[in-house]
Amino acid sequence: MKKISRDKLGTSVLDNIISKYHGLPGGVLGIIEEAQELNKRKYLPEETLEYIAKKSGVPLAQIYSVVTFYSFFNLKPQGEHTVVVCRGTACHTRGSKDLLEFLKTLLNITEPQEDESIPLTTGDGRFTMRTVACIGQCALAPVIIIDGKVYSHMTLERLRKVINSIREKAKT
Ligand code: FES
Repeated sequence: MKKISRDKLGTSVLDNIISKYHGLPGGVLGIIEEAQELNKRKYLPEETLEYIAKKSGVPLAQIYSVVTFYSFFNLKPQGEHTVVVCRGTACHTRGSKDLLEFLKTLLNITEPQEDESIPLTTGDGRFTMRTVACIGQCALAPVIIIDGKVYSHMTLERLRKVINSIREKAKT
């Protein structure tokens, strides 16, 4: 049997998830969603997808097409904290590009980002930074979501304070 590394789900956990959704409509989606949710780094390692394909009888190509269709599935490990910068038109005109660049500085992300829709994770695994086209809160632009909490009318100074406070909490 293939060895599963520590940040990946064990086969017994996956077996339970697969049996839970067996025969249900949309079962594959449920299996993949739960497998990601239970993964400590909130992603779907290749081995996990291969195991799900083998045990559920769903072709691996079909599983990959589901995973790549929905933007909430991750194929790479995610940071402990997620910062989502809205890059829609309303947020853009109110300074979201500056917020995005400032966030990279705050998180010490130096690698060039040719496509800003591709998430970046800090080397220490603490933060993942991603963008979104619009979250439907345009009147509150610019908007940033940090660990699921929506921050409206975001400013550079406020962003710095929120990131610093997350770092401070981690020290205590
Ligand atoms: S453009 Fe940012 S919330 Fe709509």
